[in-house]
Amino acid sequence: MKQYNVGIIGATGMVGQRFITLLENHPWFNIKLLAASPRSAGKTYEKAAGSRWKMTSPMPESVKNMVLMDASGDIEKIASMVDFCFCAVDMKKDEIKALEEAYAKAECPIVSNNSAHRFTPDVPMVVPEINPDHIEIIKAQRERLGTKRGFIAVKSNCSIQSYVPALHPLRKFGLKKVLACTYQAISGAGKTFDTWPEMIDNLIPYIGGEEEKSEQEPLKVWGTIQGNEIVKAQEPSITTQCLRVPVSDGHTAAVFVTFENKPSKEEILQLWKDFSGVPQELNLPSAPKQFIHYFEENDRPQAKLDRNLEGGMAVSTGRLREDTQYDYKFVCLSHNTLRGAAGGGVLLAELLAAKGYFD
Ligand SMILES: NC(=O)c1ccc[n+]([C@@H]2O[C@H](COP(=O)([O-])OP(=O)(O)OC[C@H]3O[C@@H](n4cnc5c(N)ncnc54)[C@H](OP(=O)(O)O)[C@@H]3O)[C@@H](O)[C@H]2O)c1
Repeated sequence: MKQYNVGIIGATGMVGQRFITLLENHPWFNIKLLAASPRSAGKTYEKAAGSRWKMTSPMPESVKNMVLMDASGDIEKIASMVDFCFCAVDMKKDEIKALEEAYAKAECPIVSNNSAHRFTPDVPMVVPEINPDHIEIIKAQRERLGTKRGFIAVKSNCSIQSYVPALHPLRKFGLKKVLACTYQAISGAGKTFDTWPEMIDNLIPYIGGEEEKSEQEPLKVWGTIQGNEIVKAQEPSITTQCLRVPVSDGHTAAVFVTFENKPSKEEILQLWKDFSGVPQELNLPSAPKQFIHYFEENDRPQAKLDRNLEGGMAVSTGRLREDTQYDYKFVCLSHNTLRGAAGGGVLLAELLAAKGYFD
């Protein structure tokens, strides 16, 4: 496979750090440059991010002496040095939109973890096992932007990465109504227990903007390309409550679902077991072998025990049973900064590379 030079924009942040650890020994992608805000630009990565390093593995030697570039001030230079960039920055939505579009227009493809462009109609929002075909909209996006190589592709919010994969193979029974309560880890806010001690022995019943994302994003992921845009699916009707819980990593969801044609429990379990997508067919480096794992034990999946399954890229499910108000209920879990953030971004980039979008 061809080798690609990549940049990480927002390299000093929680997601940026994950990108660094995931790309350290990546077979296709080489970290060529790191960028962050003007506050960090000009400093070595070690100096700018050393005290903020939150990963359990040590900072890789290969990045310690890299001098951070200015994500907004060095766009042309960055674009000339890499084949594409990952982007995960904490800025205002309008600023992120403009920044990502400026990179695309400078002919630097962007694989984004940010939410700013998730509902831009010609920007694909991809869970590679579910809607890999949505990357075909990039042709229309390039026409709109007037670019040859440049484009933006995004991954979805971390909150939906557990229940949308579990629901996806069941769509053939006609998903009518979905209720999902998510129990979200503090790393989703870029925090640890050291930096957010108020979360110890606590639960906060509100995460700004999260419930709208959790209800709307699945409909775009399940949407279809019509002309120059991705049109959202009409069903199912989804309602959510998103809570912040005292867990370091791993978002859990308690899900209730009603179908048009109710399947048997055995049919659901078989579909989860058999669910395999394009990443598995193409044997992409970050793809889990088994996308959905089902635990028979009543007390699983547990965030602490199961979030790292298959390098944090698999989804765990459990407690599937009939419900008195909905057809079924179950629990699912995914690692929010791996599958839900940087890992999902890397897998999307692998799909785009395998399909020639960075050439
Ligand atoms: N954490 C998660 O699990 C998760 C999951 C999915 C998506 N996301 C999304 O990913 C993005 C980053 O999240 P995070 O948790 O990694 O945030 P974070 O830890 O707060 O890091 C923010 C990054 O943005 C950079 N930045 C801030 N202002 C900037 C500017 N004006 N120009 C350029 N860079 C700037 C920071 O650089 P400095 O160090 O120089 O300030 C830092 O590298 C957010 O959009 C978030 O919604 C996060």
